[in-house]
Amino acid sequence: MRRPSIGVFDSGFGGLTVLKELAAVIPAADYLYFGDTARLPYGSKSAETVARYAVEATHFLQQHGANMLVIACNTATALAFDKIVRAAQIPVVGVVEPGAERAAASSKNQKVVVIGTEATVASHAYLKALQARGVDVREKACPLLVPLVEEGWTEHAVTEQISRIYLQEAFGDGFQSADVLLLGCTHYPLLKTVVRRVAPAHIAIVDSAEATAQAVAELLKFKPPPTPSADERRQFARIKFFATDSVEKFRRLGGRFLGQPIEDVQHVDLKE
Ligand code: DGL
Repeated sequence: MRRPSIGVFDSGFGGLTVLKELAAVIPAADYLYFGDTARLPYGSKSAETVARYAVEATHFLQQHGANMLVIACNTATALAFDKIVRAAQIPVVGVVEPGAERAAASSKNQKVVVIGTEATVASHAYLKALQARGVDVREKACPLLVPLVEEGWTEHAVTEQISRIYLQEAFGDGFQSADVLLLGCTHYPLLKTVVRRVAPAHIAIVDSAEATAQAVAELLKFKPPPTPSADERRQFARIKFFATDSVEKFRRLGGRFLGQPIEDVQHVDLKE
């Protein structure tokens, strides 16, 4: 099989959690990561605006040689997936369907809580995807979590307290018996430790990033070798980074999301 060139698109840094999973599962690939850092956050914007930004990024990644596109941003997938697919001449994978599929498969009593940005929750994209699989769903917007993660406060007492409040609300009122929590935002994998501590003990945590990487591997019919370790496998992936705002900030913040240092970042000016 020809080495695939996979375009990965996100509003900023968060999609690097998806890239991290992709590079571990499909190391024999070239990746083009596009972070629209000048225009983040997407999570508080309208569907029209997010779709316009996402279509521009799609064109950029195609022009730079991507032969497959992964929409790592939950908000962009939730609000603009169909428009992106229409604008793309290459296969497109979003994070919502793989995340919903894995959450449905992981729930024994078919009851799932999904957390995400305000825009993702308002779109009901996860609700629809889960209901189509016969699952009862509670959606909960957690808008304070993205800035806390970007601040680097992933283990902070404030973050723990806020997460506790959000999750108490999400699992209250008839949803105590939900047995899966679906992380429907790129930033939330960094909060897994805190979420594990404050969420009801019996729940399974499902991460859209991991599920998406598996879905892309299946599409490419790629089987990762059982060894070496995920970290070693990632070293084989060739990654180019593009950002629409400061490359210095992208390097600094991005390394935390990717779990490894980021060296070269190219600045991109998307003329509207
Ligand atoms: N990437 C976004 C998401 O997964 C979170 C950050 C933002 O709001 O732009 O929904």
